[in-house]
Amino acid sequence: MTILVTGGAGFIGSNFVRYQLAESEARIINFDLLTYAGNLANLEGCSEDPRYRFVRGDIRDRAALQKLFAEESITAVVHFAAESHVDRSVEGPEIFVTTNVLGTEILLEESRSAGVERFLMVSTDEVYGSLGTEGMFTETSPLAPNSPYAASKASADLLCRAFFKTYDFPVLITRCSNNYGPYQFPEKLIPLMIANAMEGKPLPVYGDGQHVRDWLFVDDHCRALDLVLRKGTPGAVYNIGGCNEMANLELVNLLVNKLEVSRDLITFVKDRPGHDRRYAIDAGKIMTELGWEPSVLFAEGLGRTVDWYLDNRSWWETIRSGEYTRYYEEMYGEGGRHTRRPGDTS
Ligand code: NAD
Ligand code: DAU
Repeated sequence: MTILVTGGAGFIGSNFVRYQLAESEARIINFDLLTYAGNLANLEGCSEDPRYRFVRGDIRDRAALQKLFAEESITAVVHFAAESHVDRSVEGPEIFVTTNVLGTEILLEESRSAGVERFLMVSTDEVYGSLGTEGMFTETSPLAPNSPYAASKASADLLCRAFFKTYDFPVLITRCSNNYGPYQFPEKLIPLMIANAMEGKPLPVYGDGQHVRDWLFVDDHCRALDLVLRKGTPGAVYNIGGCNEMANLELVNLLVNKLEVSRDLITFVKDRPGHDRRYAIDAGKIMTELGWEPSVLFAEGLGRTVDWYLDNRSWWETIRSGEYTRYYEEMYGEGGRHTRRPGDTS
């Protein structure tokens, strides 16, 4: 199997590339634009493997994809490449449409022309929108995305469905809950909190901190993707989740305890607009059909994640000294999106 992995220099993509090189015989072509979120340091050691090739490129660049498909006998595509951060989509939705929607459409067309046998779309549980206190998302829950990011992912997800229905193109779709683990970009909740705590900075909790996410260790996601890629039914959607719901404030408190920093660092800041209240995944289908289940308990996974960020301080310090500084000011600095002003109640 020769797998084209798009976005393989990002958080989940790099963990997936590592997983494939370690656990399978597949040849891996990693096609990544190296945006602010893509980082070749995430793939240290991979380039020494003769089964691995990195190509810098944009999924919106049809000619680059055509050249790659002509050069390599690609049998499968695992499509991670995306703009992935909700807060950035609130600030500037356009790139989410061009990358996530148009990019996916171009990739689908070129993959189909090249005769790709399996196309796995890495979608997200955010396409379902928000839950109240009861219930879980199943694969048949209606799509009701609330952020520009989620809407762009839902559009890409539906384009994949359309390619299956219209052209019989063998697409598989996964919708996973929140991942955590090594190499996650420190704009996301867990690595942001760890890095801020280590630097003695405030820990910005949005709104009342009672928004619930269902956390899954990234290795478990990679194993689920591998199973779907190899054994899933074309045209099918598979939910993937951690069976592990937690309110943000509870999670931040766990990190405060683990890192032995003062609880006073926790700062309630202005909420994210359109903030989804709760996600919970019913992963029964992938469990019964493909025999997958999460294997890393949250306490263990969080411990491994904290240790990784403690041991790899230069990795995140380098990131936090670049473009990230401007982003951080826009989000959390004086007058930033999440700064409460007099009279603000959100
Ligand atoms: P990430 O932001 O860490 O990585 C995205 C990668 O895509 C980066 O390496 C970036 O350089 C690359 N990229 C962006 N635009 C590109 C383009 N035009 N052409 C080629 N490459 C481009 O993202 P992540 O958190 O690893 O998420 C990966 C995928 O998984 C995304 O599609 C996301 O929607 C989905 N997902 C993420 C989670 C999560 O919790 N992080 C959960 C479910 C699904
Ligand atoms: O559910 C899957 C999705 O999970 C993926 O599709 C997205 O790509 C990924 O970014 C993630 O989205 P979230 O918005 O849930 O993740 P984030 O880490 O940004 O936020 C997690 C929760 O923490 C959310 O309720 C917002 C809150 N939060 C986040 C940040 C960055 C805070 O309270 N403070 C913060 O500073």
